[in-house]
Amino acid sequence: MYFKLFISATIICLAFSSCSSSLYTPNETDAQLENTSLDTLLAGKKLYANKCSSCHNLYLPTKYTYSEWQDIMIKMQKLAKIDDNHKLIITKYLKVKSKK
Ligand code: HEC
Repeated sequence: MYFKLFISATIICLAFSSCSSSLYTPNETDAQLENTSLDTLLAGKKLYANKCSSCHNLYLPTKYTYSEWQDIMIKMQKLAKIDDNHKLIITKYLKVKSKK
């Protein structure tokens, strides 16, 4: 029973490749470079995985430049119904590995 559940969960993960584990996990160095706390970046990752995966697969942070992410976040904030603070935190997380 549990094994079956585990298999289904794995298949769903593979099929949608939207599992947060495949997303980059920020570290202390990233936090220092971004002039923010590691907690903020980790919260950003979590929010990104939770708030941004209901309509489409998660896009990798490396897919867009920081400036493109800023534009995208203006559009997606409305769709994801998140407040300005959550938008800011998610954008900070995306910036770390954004396209250079
Ligand atoms: C309510 C559904 C919904 C949610 C929630 C949502 N999106 Fe989207 N997203 C869309 C749709 C629809 C498109 C295609 C929009 C278009 O082509 O203009 C899209 C497109 C995108 C794209 C592709 C680039 C683009 O502008 O078309 C990115 C990147 C993206 N979303 C990121 C996010 C992020 C980050 C979040 C979380 C803050 C998020 N999405 C939450 C519906 C959603």
